[in-house]
This record gives sequence, structure tokens and C-alpha cells, in this order.
Amino acid sequence: MCGIVGAVAQRNIVSVLIEGLRRLEYRGYDSCGVAVLAGGEPKRARSVARVADLDEQVRETRLEGVTGIAHTRWATHGAPVTDNAHPIFSRNELAIVHNGIIENYETLRDMLRGKGYEFISQTDTEVIAHLIQSLYSGDLFAAVREATGHLHGAYAIAVLHKSQPDTVVGARQGSPLVVGLGEGENFLASDALALAGSTDRFMFLEEGDVCELTLEKVRVFDRDGKPAARDVRQVAAYGGAVELGPYRHFMQKEIFEQPRAISDTIPQSDVFDASLFGETAPKAFAEIDSLLILACGTSYYSGLTAKYWLESIAKIPTQVEIASEYRYRDSVPNPKSLVVVISQSGETADTIAALKHAQSLGHKHTLSVCNVATSAMVRMTELSFLTHAGREIGVASTKAFTTQLVALFVLAATLGKMRGNISAKQEADYIRQLRHLPAALNSVLALEPQIIAWSEEFSRKENALFLGRGLHYPIALEGALKLKEISYIHAEAYPAGELKHGPLALVTEAMPVVTVAPNDALLEKLKSNIQEVRARGGQLYVFADADTKIVNDEGLHVIRMPEHYGLLSPILHVVPLQLLAYHTACSRGTDVDKPRNLAKSVTVE
Ligand code: F6R
Repeated sequence: MCGIVGAVAQRNIVSVLIEGLRRLEYRGYDSCGVAVLAGGEPKRARSVARVADLDEQVRETRLEGVTGIAHTRWATHGAPVTDNAHPIFSRNELAIVHNGIIENYETLRDMLRGKGYEFISQTDTEVIAHLIQSLYSGDLFAAVREATGHLHGAYAIAVLHKSQPDTVVGARQGSPLVVGLGEGENFLASDALALAGSTDRFMFLEEGDVCELTLEKVRVFDRDGKPAARDVRQVAAYGGAVELGPYRHFMQKEIFEQPRAISDTIPQSDVFDASLFGETAPKAFAEIDSLLILACGTSYYSGLTAKYWLESIAKIPTQVEIASEYRYRDSVPNPKSLVVVISQSGETADTIAALKHAQSLGHKHTLSVCNVATSAMVRMTELSFLTHAGREIGVASTKAFTTQLVALFVLAATLGKMRGNISAKQEADYIRQLRHLPAALNSVLALEPQIIAWSEEFSRKENALFLGRGLHYPIALEGALKLKEISYIHAEAYPAGELKHGPLALVTEAMPVVTVAPNDALLEKLKSNIQEVRARGGQLYVFADADTKIVNDEGLHVIRMPEHYGLLSPILHVVPLQLLAYHTACSRGTDVDKPRNLAKSVTVE
């Protein structure tokens, strides 16, 4: 999704800006651009191709400057064409880059047209550019502060003006922005990652902050217009670029990294202890009577899986909601409910807004399960549990999902123990099973050649059904999501018992039906559902635990999973579905790591 980089320095800054964009590329974008102050004028280069193309352009045109801003755009208002690519100019004096969406842009546009401003792009960003320009009278910082008072919606912006050659001004509301501190130079970015190599000292701006960067100084004013001090944090973890190694795509690499990622996420401790979730967790957990889980996409499916664990292990009522739905509906708040937000990035706009909404309704205790320690969500919640998946580059989430499941299982077991629902023996068994997970996952990953054989057939299909029951229904949902997002095959998931209530009508010889078949209490029911499909000529592709006695037959293709893995089985069963989606997408020749229309970190509503 959109990315921002900005810099004020005493050296030519273009290569730093382009490198920053490169680091943000994995998030997905459809155009990019850079602007610098050169010879007292803003000059820019823009491209609707890749950052590499932009780089070529700036080399050919010898675009150079010591003050600059750059952007990767994921289109919201206006098609991905050059005129809509950022930086956007106002009267050739001011340049701006913007992440987010301005909701009242039409009203502001009409007002600015009335003042004689001409609109060249279809973007809401151009409204901000002209608004700041219309308020400018020699002080860019003051003009931006005043302009933000008129903006409704979400934004992170970086602005420069020809009359202030050594200044970049930034502002944020609902979209992340960080300041990177250098020696005699300063930087701005939507993600600290963009500035790796330039600095490791960061100030994370807060909602409503406006900042001014000059060579020697950074000033921050808060939402009330008062000077604000923001902590400077050393973030060493943002190392160099992630290498692909022997893998064809990052998604494949990340699928194979799961044993390591899971082993890094499992707590060292031999007991489930509330303090794993934060200093105040023991008190907070003792006060709660239920959970409200809020998340989007794949993270939502990990929440759905967790509901089964939380209600069966901890016996605590759990509600799971899609963040973008929850934030806009009337709900009945329960201040004793622990609000859990789950997110790989920790920056997903819908989940952040849902968390704020829950807080505004009086929910007292909040917990984030997140993969990025410095993210907005981790900073906004009282408690947090970090997954240690490492950077996930592929847009389709894989290792972030399985590490979230580990975190949520630990949460269920911890609450179960606190509420007297698991014995010491049960606790020791869970710990042992968790520790054995990486080895069990390695044996599932070894199934790749069999899955490749299936994927050839899937690549010729246009539709697929996924079935699961109970704890494995969210896994079927996740398998269908993976297949559709990277192979563009239409896929739906159902709890297997629902088949006869409608979707069975879709079953023909042409319809592959992927079935998740663990040897759990619902196995016999699932076997009946399998027969319902076979009787209609459907082709079943079943991932069956070794002890299920489901074997290859006409219309029934089986890949044998290891022995049943009890409550942790979803963590194993999702992996062949990830591999099936991956290899099917490879056979169809899609852009696996950057599927069309999708972005890695969805920072707009
Ligand atoms: C799908 C996928 C998305 C994300 C969703 C939430 O493979 O990755 O559905 O899960 O956009 O993102 P996070 O977890 O960063 O909040």
C-alpha cells in the first residue's frame, strides 16, 4: 500500500529516497514518484511502472537535490496514471506525498476552485496540496498545521515548498509516520524499514502530530497545537534486504520458514504465565469475563480458530468480529471483555479504527497479537504478545498466520490455567506439544511433491470448494482465501455440514472439493459429507490424518498427513493448503508475491 519517504540533507538525497521506496515495494503499489528542490524549484519524476523504472528516469534526467520526498501509490481516488502519481504539486511551488483518504475532499475542492486553484489529477491529495498552498505565507509548518484542521479522514503527508529549501513538514492522522534522526540530516517515512541504512534512531509520531524537519532540528506539535516531545527509540532490527535464497518466491520461502518462526514464537518458559502478555496482564486477566477479538483477513481467521481454543480450553466466552464491520455497527460494550486485536503489520487501518472504537466504548483491557514491535497497535494496547515470524514479504500471509495461532493457543492455555480449567499434567502436555510443533511441521512440508502433482490439475480450474469442520473450518476459509488471492481461482469455504443446505448444488465433476480431514471428534460426520460429494460425481482432494483410514478411491484423492495432532492440528493442516495455493498460482504464472490489486499492509479504510 502507499509508502512515504522524505529527507533533508546536505548531500544529494535521491538515491536514499529511491532506496526507501525499494524497501517499501513489497507492500504493493501501482505508481511511484520522487520530487526534490533543484535550483530553487520543485522537480519530479513519476512512473506507473516499478521503482526500478523510476530509478532509471532519475539517472537519465540527472534529478538531484538535498531536500526531497518520494512515494509509492496504491490507487484509491483516480486510476494509476502518471497525473495521479505522487508527488503532487501546487502551482509549481509546493510538493506533497500522501497516504490515506481525505473524506471531505469534494467540499474542499469546490472551495479551492473558487479561489482559482486548478485541479490536474483526480486525487484527493491535490486538495491537500492546494489547501496548504492557499494558507502559506512564509511558514510551511504553520500552513500545514492550519490545513490539517480542515481535513477529515486519514492521512500521513510529507510536504516541501520552494521558499524553504531546507525543510520538510510531515503530519499524521490515522496513517503511520516516523521521523528518522541523522547527523546533520533528518528523514521521514511511513515505516522505519524504509530508512534502514540511513538511521536507526526513530521518533514514532502520534495521532494528530505535525512535524518540521530541518538539517539540525526536528520540531513536533501535537493535535492541540502544543510543542510535544516524542521518545527517540533505537530500532536495530531493521537490517538489510531480505534474501530469497534458494526459493522461487518469498511466499514459498516464508512457508518453509514456519518451523523456525514457530519455534521463535513459542515462549521459553515451561509454564503458561500471564506475564508473557505484559506486566499488568496477571491483574487484567483476573478481571475479564470474556474476549472480543477484532481483525481482518487472514488474521481474522486466526481469531476464529482461537475462539474454539478459548471456549474449550479456557471456557471463556469469545466473540470474533471483522474489524471493518465492528467499527460501524451498534454493539453492546462489556467493559469486562478483553479486546484482542490480531495483526501481522500492526498498522491495518480497519483494525486500528476498531480498537479505537472499542476503547471509546469503555473497554478497559486491550491486547495486541502482532508481528511488528514498533507498530501502532502494539503502542496502542495495554498488553501485547509479539509473534516472531520475521519480516513477511509475500502479500499472502503464511508464517504470520501460524505464529498468530501459536500466540493465541498460548493465550487460551494461560487463561485456562488461571481459571482452573487445565491441570498441571495438561499444561505440561500442551507445552510438550508446542515444542514438538516445528518437527511436525517439517514432516508436513515434506509433502510438497505430492501437492505439486495436485496443483497441476487445480491450475486448470476456475472454481474450488473448501470444506472443514469445527476447529478446522477457519482453516478451510484460510485455504480458500490463499487460493483466490494468488491464483485468482474463485474459491469458497464451508463448514462441511452446511454443504447440503445450498453449496452442494455447485458440485459436479468439474468442481474440486478440498477437504481438511483431521482425526477428531467430527471425523465420522465429515466422512458422511465426503460421501455426499462423491455421490454427485464431485472430485475430492482430502488432506487426511494418517489415522483416519480415508484412502484413495474413485473421485477421492488423498494426501496423508501425520498422526492427529490434537488441538494444535489446525497449525499443521493449514500448511498443505498454503502449498496448494502457492503451486497452483505458479502453474498459472501469476505474480505470486504481489498479486493484482492487493497490498501487504492495508493502511486505508
Ligand atoms: C491475506 C492477508 C490479509 C491480511 C489482512 C490483515 O493473505 O494477508 O488478509 O491478513 O489484510 O492484515 P494484518 O494482519 O497486517 O492486520
